[in-house]
Amino acid sequence: MKPVTKAVLPVAGFGTRVLPATKTVPKEMLTVVDRPALQYVVDEAIEAGIEHFVFITARGKIAIEDYFDSAYELEDALLRKGKTDILDTLKSKTPREGTMSFVRQQQAKGLGHAVWCARDIIGDEPFAVLLPDVLIQSKTSCLAQMMEAYHKVGGNIIAVDPVPDERVSSYGVIKPKPGEDFRSKKLIAMNGMVEKPSVADAPSNLKITGRYILQPELMGLLRDQAAGAGGEIQLTDAMARLMETQDFHAFAYEGQDFDCGSKLGYFEAVLAFAREHKDIGEAAQDMIRKSAALK
Ligand code: G1P
Repeated sequence: MKPVTKAVLPVAGFGTRVLPATKTVPKEMLTVVDRPALQYVVDEAIEAGIEHFVFITARGKIAIEDYFDSAYELEDALLRKGKTDILDTLKSKTPREGTMSFVRQQQAKGLGHAVWCARDIIGDEPFAVLLPDVLIQSKTSCLAQMMEAYHKVGGNIIAVDPVPDERVSSYGVIKPKPGEDFRSKKLIAMNGMVEKPSVADAPSNLKITGRYILQPELMGLLRDQAAGAGGEIQLTDAMARLMETQDFHAFAYEGQDFDCGSKLGYFEAVLAFAREHKDIGEAAQDMIRKSAALK
């Protein structure tokens, strides 16, 4: 079994649901307490053993590249002022030189197309995909939990979570193999998935959360994948095809996910990460309690 050391992070989307904030700031750079949302996702991947990051970017997203670069003037100023603690935090958040690639998705053709843009860098290795709109708060990083499962069963692993029936049409939804009971097992075999189904057509209420471990053969299928839901080339459709020849497991992670691409999801993430923050956690909890008591 080949190890998973590369991760693809599609960051090319417009962020229309959180306009006007995202008119000049990429949605992945919106601050959650004291760091961009994207930093949480990179930290999650590092904890899982990822060594190389492939960011799929677009025009107007240059702030992401700058954020992960070193900032000589700033670092020098901090050093001279003796602010070494801030300097250490800054440096610890920057992946090493040569471990990040930035690839432009030149046409907005959908998530499947974005992932396919990473094909030359992925080569013939299994890889992870993390959708940075989704933040997951957990004791052990979600991708690290999935890696453990991957080492047991190999193949392709998709993080899933139950949602109320009326919300299935907002997500990719998986179809468990007959006899597989998600409530009693963390890892179940599946034999289908569909992108944004109607409630009536949904094969289950298990939504795809935005964390994947995938085999490189998927890239070949993405090359000729026809447009699907919303007229876009969907990752889900290519995975459904790969399922004809490879094993796919759905994985129930421990943790809480937040959709930072939406106003309310973003707000909920800020509250949740503030409560857990090592410096301001207690004060934040106090503030949230007081605010809840207000009429
Ligand atoms: C994407 C995927 C979908 C998944 C979702 C998770 O959809 O296509 O399968 O359930 O992310 O957030 P999007 O939110 O980009 O429409």
